[in-house]
Amino acid sequence: MESLKLGSLEVWPPVVLAPMAGITNAPFRTLCREQGGGLFVCEMITTRALVERNAKTLKMIRFDPSEKPRSIQLYGVDPVTVGRAVRMIAEEDLADHVDLNFGCPVPKVTRRGGGSALPYKRNLLRAILREAVRNAGTLPVTMKMRKGIDDDHLTYLDAGRIAVEEGVSAIALHGRTAVQHYGGTADWQSIARLKEAVSEIPVLGNGDIWSAADAMRMMAETGCDGVVVGRGCLGRPWLFADLAAACENRRDGAGGTDDRESGGELARPTLGQVAATMERHATLLAECFGNEQHAVADFRKHVGWYLKGFTVGADLRRRLATSESLAGLRQGLAELDPAQPWPEGVDAPRGKTHPRDRVHLPAGWLDDPYEVVVPGADAELETSGG
Ligand SMILES: Cc1cc2nc3c(=O)[nH]c(=O)nc-3n(C[C@H](O)[C@H](O)[C@H](O)COP(=O)(O)O)c2cc1C
Repeated sequence: MESLKLGSLEVWPPVVLAPMAGITNAPFRTLCREQGGGLFVCEMITTRALVERNAKTLKMIRFDPSEKPRSIQLYGVDPVTVGRAVRMIAEEDLADHVDLNFGCPVPKVTRRGGGSALPYKRNLLRAILREAVRNAGTLPVTMKMRKGIDDDHLTYLDAGRIAVEEGVSAIALHGRTAVQHYGGTADWQSIARLKEAVSEIPVLGNGDIWSAADAMRMMAETGCDGVVVGRGCLGRPWLFADLAAACENRRDGAGGTDDRESGGELARPTLGQVAATMERHATLLAECFGNEQHAVADFRKHVGWYLKGFTVGADLRRRLATSESLAGLRQGLAELDPAQPWPEGVDAPRGKTHPRDRVHLPAGWLDDPYEVVVPGADAELETSGG
């Protein structure tokens, strides 16, 4: 196994924290980075808000001084605005890497031709990538996408070729179509097919990595150059320790694809250790937001993920998930049994898992894949997802 090369950046281990809106802010990235190396991408940032210097957006791209490389994911639909946003990042030294998001399946976005609907319009995709790379200076620009809109409208192989032609440094593929949303299982075969079609730049595989063994298996089965891990690390930053150990093991040429062989000892925190991390997570959020109530409210969604599989009474779970202050949260955490061991069998799906029955698209969107269009600014209004 080799380090991941994104232009002039070298990343070891070849492991990426998937950008997740509302999750992968600086506090969560800190918790993950402390466990093991890799590339830890920030929450998605819309290009229009960035170039307009929206105050909230500028706060979202603050990095801890220890964070290297600094990675920003952008989402935009207009080549000119995307180019301006990338230039701003390069000229003002706001990050070391820019990823472009073409995977958002949210109806509000696809209905306007944005997100995962966009790569269907090949010339628009090309124009966005061209402007991004042209304005990036020496910063590596990567892209993240899905397989396509649905099985009858796959776009990833065309998009991969376009990305290579436009000078993109790497491609991450989530092995689902937009209509699948987060349902079913990710199609890792598509990652293998993209790897065959795009030999010039690294291909990163994404979808359904719930354990280090899954990551090793994806790399072995698809030949991908690195893995992107999303929902598997929700409430589980320790997964990055397992991933790093498994990669180290592979670098030395050893290791198989089951848990024991993939990295030796797996990180298995007790409930007491989990509680300490929960407390730290909420405290870091409060420091980051500068607002305790906002932080505690934001932390609520993490409670169920952290406690998944542990034996914790319904009343305490509820109180932890509805705390209104750090003191209240700490009180609840102190009631957890610190000696309770890590539960077996939690390497299972967590987070969103539902499919959709259709993808909402602008009228006539599928008629002409080569039509030259730029969706309106409202395709950038939604800021939540991939
Ligand atoms: C809550 C949530 C927010 C997400 N936000 C983004 C995002 O902002 N940008 C993006 O490219 N993907 C986003 N995604 C998709 C993930 O990056 C990833 O592609 C997807 O979850 C599949 O990987 P997984 O099976 O490892 O979770 C999001 C996913 C979730 C669950």
